[in-house]
Amino acid sequence: MDYGKVNDIMEKKMLDELNNQINEEIFSSYLYLSMAAYFENSNFPGFATWMEVQAQEEMVHAMKFYGYVIERGGKIDLKAIEKPQSEWESPVHAFKAALEHEKHITSRINYLYKTAREVIDPATEIFLNWFVTEQVEEEANASEIVAKMEMIKDAPSAMYMLDKELGARIPLYTMPVAQ
Ligand code: FEO
Repeated sequence: MDYGKVNDIMEKKMLDELNNQINEEIFSSYLYLSMAAYFENSNFPGFATWMEVQAQEEMVHAMKFYGYVIERGGKIDLKAIEKPQSEWESPVHAFKAALEHEKHITSRINYLYKTAREVIDPATEIFLNWFVTEQVEEEANASEIVAKMEMIKDAPSAMYMLDKELGARIPLYTMPVAQ
């Protein structure tokens, strides 16, 4: 019986795009770490903590792609990570840039999903489902913060409170204390 095209080895196009996504996720981590550093220097330790945790999350995303490529027997192809921007005009500009970046990542995930369909790779489609849902949350989080900041309009006491609120974000992991 002819079952048509059955993929047990990943198509090159799919593999290349998954490798590209490892780079996109590590760059996301780098960008948010850069935003964390900007907030540290601007005396917003809570925004810095939030961005640090976001940077951790992005590394987890990168590792999910990494693990999946390995599991499928694909070759990992790590590329150079672009230098991220290091200054923003104000906190709201940084969070708006984060939101725009998340929109870009959503479009990347959608493109990966489309590619998985094109090459008839249902395993990758199912793997990507988690990211499709995650991106809805990622955009909603950034968008909510931008909306709050726009409402506050840089009023110092409200910015102080928001900084405190975002600083309560729980890290995914903490660094071990050096012996
Ligand atoms: Fe990995 Fe924020 O998307």
